[in-house]
Amino acid sequence: MKVGIIGSGGREHSICKSLKLSKKIDKIYCFPGNAGTAEIAENIVIDLENFEILKNIILEKKIDLIVVGPEKPLVDGIVDYLEKFNIKVFGPSKKASQLEGSKIFTKQLCKEFKIPTANFGIFFNKKESIEFLIKSKYPIVIKADNLASGKGVYICNNFNESSFAVNEIFDGKFGEAKNLLIEEFLNGEEMSFFTIHDGKTFKTFGTAQDHKRVLEGDKGKNTGGMGAYSPSRLINKKLENKILKKIINPTLQGLSKLGYEYKGFLYTGLMIVDNEPYLIEYNVRMGDPECQTLLPKLKTDLNIILVACCEGKLNELNIEWHNKKSLCIVLCSNGYPDKFKKNIEIPNIENIKLNSSEYLFHAGTIKKNKKIYAVGGRVLNLVAISDDFNTAKKNVINNLKKLNWLGGFYRKDIGYKVLK
Ligand code: AMP
Ligand code: GLY
Repeated sequence: MKVGIIGSGGREHSICKSLKLSKKIDKIYCFPGNAGTAEIAENIVIDLENFEILKNIILEKKIDLIVVGPEKPLVDGIVDYLEKFNIKVFGPSKKASQLEGSKIFTKQLCKEFKIPTANFGIFFNKKESIEFLIKSKYPIVIKADNLASGKGVYICNNFNESSFAVNEIFDGKFGEAKNLLIEEFLNGEEMSFFTIHDGKTFKTFGTAQDHKRVLEGDKGKNTGGMGAYSPSRLINKKLENKILKKIINPTLQGLSKLGYEYKGFLYTGLMIVDNEPYLIEYNVRMGDPECQTLLPKLKTDLNIILVACCEGKLNELNIEWHNKKSLCIVLCSNGYPDKFKKNIEIPNIENIKLNSSEYLFHAGTIKKNKKIYAVGGRVLNLVAISDDFNTAKKNVINNLKKLNWLGGFYRKDIGYKVLK
């Protein structure tokens, strides 16, 4: 069969690599992909906002299954659009994607279904936000309601910082803002919990912890993710049961009551406070770089899983995993997450000789005249799996040293909480 993957990051390269292992797949297309996917698939560069052109290519090339990587097309309704033409798509509908697309939608669902989350208020203008913030305790969290690539969240330590955030959001930094969210600060440890859904049932799909801040010691600006490890050090059967009972199941009941079903990956961002889970946010897709960290541990054919989800047959499958530790470090362009230069060559990539437990996933790269160039903020992901996190990390760092790329940097402390 033929499969198409939408997206161009490390997440999509790792999905592409896993699908390539499937005996049932003879051709993969990536829209638009990167230099890594170009090695094993055919990249097709198109404007992803134009669903009609995409649909025409899918029909013309007779692609049997489309896998959507990033949130933007999901929130914009790509699944609903393509399904109208009888195209099989793995991902949630536009309505279900509000779980990520609108923080306020999710907060209201939490309120109605008693899902544990930070206490919050919704504010509709600067004046009432400021009046509330004058009387508030700090730290406090302020969030823009729309998709903001992880940047619309402000952790404010005092009134000055919070009024700055309110002004930025209402002045349109993340697009037109009709409202914002002010939230209690939860003091705990974060964990990413993944599930996979077929519209009727779901299965767990692993856990991870990522490092979102750009600087070592989890300091500095928020990024898309500088590295991750799996499993999370916090997970155990008791906590998993609490997450399912208190968070995932009531969310699905809430969606179902609204008449929405959920098909696709669901990424539940949690704060664990004294062994109790609180929902921070939902993402209606796999995490990046969590996906690159998780998929190398998957034993079951990913293609069989995704097709089963599209056909509502997930309950017939048993998803198997290698019982290993996995660690991923993201190599970024100098300057990221602020301004960085594009089209910088990565000369030593051929020096990296991977063994069967090491992986190199491309993100913001392109290939020109047989050379690889960085064109994005996050450029490459080095992953290793092992029986222990220390060995995994050592192998990742060895490969990064062989690469010795002067155009970029990486955090050397990824996984510090699980390393001995
Ligand atoms: P989000 O985009 O909602 O995941 O938020 C980005 C980051 O802000 C999260 O990964 C957390 O580290 C932090 N954060 C968000 N909400 C809260 C909260 N209520 N309490 C503490 N930290 C938070
Ligand atoms: N690594 C965080 C995310 O994918 O949103």
